[in-house]
Amino acid sequence: MATQDTYNYSVVRQFSVMTIIWGVVGMLVGVLIAAQMAWPVLNFDTPWLTFSRLRPLHTNAVIFAFGGSALFATSYYVVQRTCHTRLFAPGLAAFTFWGWQLVIVLAAISLPLGYTTSKEYAELEWPIDILITLVWVSYAVVFFGTIFKRKVQHIYVANWFFGAFIITVAILHLGNSAALPVSFTKSYSVYSGAQDAMVQWWYGHNAVGFFLTAGFLGMMYYFIPKQAERPVYSYRLSVVHFWALVFTYIWAGPHHLHYTALPDWTQSVGMVFSLILLAPSWGGMINGIMTLSGAWQKLRSDPILRFLIVSVSFYGMSTFEGPMMSIKTVNALSHYTDWTIGHVHSGALGWVALVSMGSMYYLIPRLFNREIYSVKLIEVHFWVATIGIILYITSMWVSGVMQGLMWRAVNPDGTLTYSFVESVQAMHPFYIVRWLGGTFFLLGMLIMAYNVFKTIKGATPAEAAIPAPAH
Ligand code: HEM
Ligand code: HEM
Repeated sequence: MATQDTYNYSVVRQFSVMTIIWGVVGMLVGVLIAAQMAWPVLNFDTPWLTFSRLRPLHTNAVIFAFGGSALFATSYYVVQRTCHTRLFAPGLAAFTFWGWQLVIVLAAISLPLGYTTSKEYAELEWPIDILITLVWVSYAVVFFGTIFKRKVQHIYVANWFFGAFIITVAILHLGNSAALPVSFTKSYSVYSGAQDAMVQWWYGHNAVGFFLTAGFLGMMYYFIPKQAERPVYSYRLSVVHFWALVFTYIWAGPHHLHYTALPDWTQSVGMVFSLILLAPSWGGMINGIMTLSGAWQKLRSDPILRFLIVSVSFYGMSTFEGPMMSIKTVNALSHYTDWTIGHVHSGALGWVALVSMGSMYYLIPRLFNREIYSVKLIEVHFWVATIGIILYITSMWVSGVMQGLMWRAVNPDGTLTYSFVESVQAMHPFYIVRWLGGTFFLLGMLIMAYNVFKTIKGATPAEAAIPAPAH
């Protein structure tokens, strides 16, 4: 039987701890920018504290620092456990940790200083992009090297999702970041005009599909069965889910560019593929949730399972909403409004953050060979976070639909019923509610940080520990 010291947990531990730390930082910046939208005085008339510079800091911190660290930690753990072998090239794995942290620190310095390519979710300038490429190629070598030296024949489905995420993100990053540097801190995209927009949203949408979805589905397929102590509901469905999802996602990007200079037929292709995407997304959701069939009572007593299952429900909700918003006539109302922000955060808080938190609650005690400090605090975290999400997304839905309706309202003589400023005024109360929801969500994250810190304190590393159960 394998023993735990068969596995390289040090890099998994490092990434897990940084997931919590970056979660707190990224969400703190989120709460600050939410407050700035409600009370603009909080921009303090200081360039590096303005909303425009802190917003990309928030998105980079939560997606790449918090989400990215969670993905590195869980993929390195899952690939070792399911392949029954240690990580390939441990030195390179350590490089991915330090290299990724350096990328994050450089982002945290350069974005508030105003250095940006202006491409959303790909704002970092070219020297940092090169570092990202080096880290990512090393990540691929470690991950696929481990798959190649596996001791079991079968490649468990979670690894398929992690593998697709790693390959696709590499291609997206290389394709979209192609640029001509003019100085150390400034470059220009090699694409121009509508092509630039098209490439950017091919990247942007697949960053959602692969960075914010495929990798986290890898987590779902490993941690839900483990925590529920039941096999995946349908292994066959998981394989169909995989191929249908990766094939469909890649075509849906133009739904971000409805009614723009992009050729109309391209927009329609994007819309049709987005509608088709509902099917594989829901297939995956059903597979995750139905894994609990026959053991629903566990939800009552196990807060970690509740994090995981509720996250999959939010995944289902946002992947229903997304296809609806991709319909051109619906997008005519939702685009440019807070509805998009509500959609983003039902996916980001409800799905990405909750599944990461559930996976971390599963992992941390095992990695540090300790009982979790307080199950009660996990329970409190769950409720505080859920209340936070509900306040955030409902306020944004109401505000978004209201904004869209106010902008399109016309008087009988054809003039606009409302000025833009009137719509901004009407949104103010909803911005306060969103800020409150974000504060709740951040409070939950702080409770988690405290619980994890108390758990780790005085821990014996798992490598020195007793035999591990089979994967
Ligand atoms: C079937 C799945 C999905 C479809 C078809 C879809 C579709 C859409 C559409 C139509 C928009 C609005 C585009 C616009 O008007 O500008 C959008 C925005 C967005 N969605 Fe989704 N969505 C899906 C799932 C998700 C999930 C699960 C997440 C997060 C984890 C997510 C994250 C985002 C983000 C970040 C944006 C904002 C992009 C931006 O403008 O910066 N989506 N999505
Ligand atoms: C405490 C929690 C959070 C708060 C208070 C918060 C707040 C905000 C605010 C105020 C914005 C700007 C909205 C605007 O421009 O109108 C924003 C944008 C965004 N946030 Fe968050 N956020 C939080 C957590 C997260 C997490 C965990 C993620 C991802 C995993 C995330 C992903 C994003 C993305 C992708 C955008 C850009 C959306 C777009 O361009 O359409 N946020 N957030």
